[in-house]
Amino acid sequence: MDIFHSHACGLDISDRSVKIVELKKAGKRFELISVGYRELAPGIVEDGTILNDTRLAEAIRILAEKHLSAPLTTRRIAIALPESRTIRYTFTFPKRFTEKEIEEAIPYEAEKVVPFDTSSAYWDFTLQGEHKGSQMVAYAAAPEKLITDYIEVIAHAGFALQTATLEAQALVKSLVSWYNHDELVALIDIGARTSTISITDQTGIWFTYSVPVAGNHFTEATAKALNLPVQEAEVKRIKNGLTLKQIQNAVMPLLTTIAHDIRKAAVFTEKKVGKKVTKVILCGGSSLMPGIQDALASEIKLPIEIGNPWREIEATDKPDTPLLYATVLGLAMRGLDSHSPHTMLNLLKHN
Ligand SMILES: Nc1ncnc2c1ncn2[C@@H]1O[C@H](COP(=O)(O)OP(=O)(O)OP(=O)(O)O)[C@@H](O)[C@H]1O
Ligand SMILES: [Mg+2]
Repeated sequence: MDIFHSHACGLDISDRSVKIVELKKAGKRFELISVGYRELAPGIVEDGTILNDTRLAEAIRILAEKHLSAPLTTRRIAIALPESRTIRYTFTFPKRFTEKEIEEAIPYEAEKVVPFDTSSAYWDFTLQGEHKGSQMVAYAAAPEKLITDYIEVIAHAGFALQTATLEAQALVKSLVSWYNHDELVALIDIGARTSTISITDQTGIWFTYSVPVAGNHFTEATAKALNLPVQEAEVKRIKNGLTLKQIQNAVMPLLTTIAHDIRKAAVFTEKKVGKKVTKVILCGGSSLMPGIQDALASEIKLPIEIGNPWREIEATDKPDTPLLYATVLGLAMRGLDSHSPHTMLNLLKHN
């Protein structure tokens, strides 16, 4: 194995930050080679859309040159596309269809469910197993312009884009892939604007649903309940400036909404896939809110844990708030199993 395939980089671009990780394969585990992040000012990326390509490319270049724990050894990089701009769908095909036949049939099926122009879209699929005599096929697509914008920015930043996958796929890799049971896991990414519920197993995602309720709404609710300015409520909420009871009282109705949608997603997928959801794993910045685990547990009768994306990684020095690296770690980990294409959606493959 040459260095190009034994090392892999992930780049996580979100509205407020860019993060890079390089990993190396270390037997069955991974070794951290380099890690770092840089904040992004408002107006550069909003809701996953690149508004200022020059400043984004510059931020990535500066991060790579000056803010990493060690120089990168490869410039081939994997990114996650914004959940809100991509589509994911599970198709079912007759068992007799070969992979080639599925590949040929997908564009016709996709046309019926994808809300943007499929003739120019970027897409990919993976075979996810059989259920009730049919083949289950995971499909994902993104509009052409979204992908070409990312390719261009990444080239300007001095990198070559190898993989563009879904954020939830990267999260499954870093948070669920070790969970080797014939059961489903509900992976809940609670960010700033949205909470994404993905019902998954170690083979990938079976169902995804985004609820527009997350950290920003927790802050607004806290501000209102305690009669504080929004900014102060955000700082106090994060820095333990409020009692657990105050936070829970303010945000409980919002957590109840999320819990309700988790239960709905679980029931729907359990019927479709024929397996049970047995665990809830939380990730995303807002899952760091004190008390959230207990509050959700009172609504959902399943074990709930906070994800640990560093579980499979040898690292002497982990960054602060290690959970926030779940996406970028998953991307780099995925990059190191690109020889097992069946588990990896790479939207650059078909266009
Ligand atoms: N220690 C903490 N305790 C509580 N909340 C936190 C903490 N750190 C960050 N947050 C919250 O996490 C949110 C940001 O999380 P994350 O980085 O996962 O969001 P994002 O991916 O940018 O947003 P989205 O997925 O909605 O687009 C913010 O609402 C912030 O208030
Ligand atoms: Mg997010």
